[in-house]
Amino acid sequence: MNAEYNTSLFNKYNRFRESELKTIFSKYNYLLKWTPNAAILDVGCGTGDISLMFIYSIIPKDYKCFVCTDISAKMLQEAEKKFEGKPRVFFKLLDITKDLKETYTYDHIFSMWCLMWVEDQKKAFKNIYDLLAPGGKTFHVLIQKLNVVQLFLQIVTRNKWMKFFPNVDKMYPFPYQNDLDPVKRIRTMMEDIGYVNVEVYLEKNTFAFANEEEFVGFLRALPNPFHVMSAKEQEDILREAIELAFANNVITESESRVESTSKTILPYFIPVRHNVIIISFRDK
Ligand SMILES: C[S@@+](CC[C@H](N)C(=O)[O-])C[C@H]1O[C@@H](n2cnc3c(N)ncnc32)[C@H](O)[C@@H]1O
Repeated sequence: MNAEYNTSLFNKYNRFRESELKTIFSKYNYLLKWTPNAAILDVGCGTGDISLMFIYSIIPKDYKCFVCTDISAKMLQEAEKKFEGKPRVFFKLLDITKDLKETYTYDHIFSMWCLMWVEDQKKAFKNIYDLLAPGGKTFHVLIQKLNVVQLFLQIVTRNKWMKFFPNVDKMYPFPYQNDLDPVKRIRTMMEDIGYVNVEVYLEKNTFAFANEEEFVGFLRALPNPFHVMSAKEQEDILREAIELAFANNVITESESRVESTSKTILPYFIPVRHNVIIISFRDK
């Protein structure tokens, strides 16, 4: 990944990540079988809000350590603030695709919305496997494809924008977005690495942005090179995204108006989104 996140936008426009995980955790939490005194690793913790809300909040309180890792120092700094005062929580810069020199192993490894940003899936999954203690378990949630991102990719590959996005496949990898059977591909890859009792689920879901501001905020919160673009260029590229979204029915104004106390909100609907959920167990 060669673009930075804007951490405050990332925090502000987190409704998508949060609302989806509420459903996923309530549906799949039966798969989380906790090890006593567990060492727990979070790969790609980001600003830590999701880690705190969905992982840290449910781990048994006898945990040995909770280690938040991310490739981005900026993200880790934010996560440290969120976890201030929590005991036995540590923070570590880590690129899950590099050759790791870790000697420590973990009973549980989580990653939320991280692995679709990783181009070299095999290396990441092998590293996670090597980081697991005997009998260790993993729980990952990642996006297979998201039509908002696919739409944004159409824009950034236009001639006028390409100079800002020279390595678009590295910036927005989404390695399973063109896969007809991502479940099979992921399961096969994991079993080839050595994982056993692999369970992979594909969930299809929809999401409605409340308004144009949230849609634009979501796009701005993706990793991007906006910091090297002029204000006018930023405005133009986002305008093009909105126009294409309406033209392709990726966003449509809802027919039913939602009345709020102060104003009428026209929700914007994103018709389709796919998520891949991966749960695996490794026994030695
Ligand atoms: C969409 S954010 C998700 C953050 C957090 N888990 C959440 O759900 O809010 C993806 C995170 O993965 C991190 N990331 C991307 N590539 C990574 C890599 N190769 N190794 C570790 N972290 C990575 C990014 O820096 C970013 O913080």
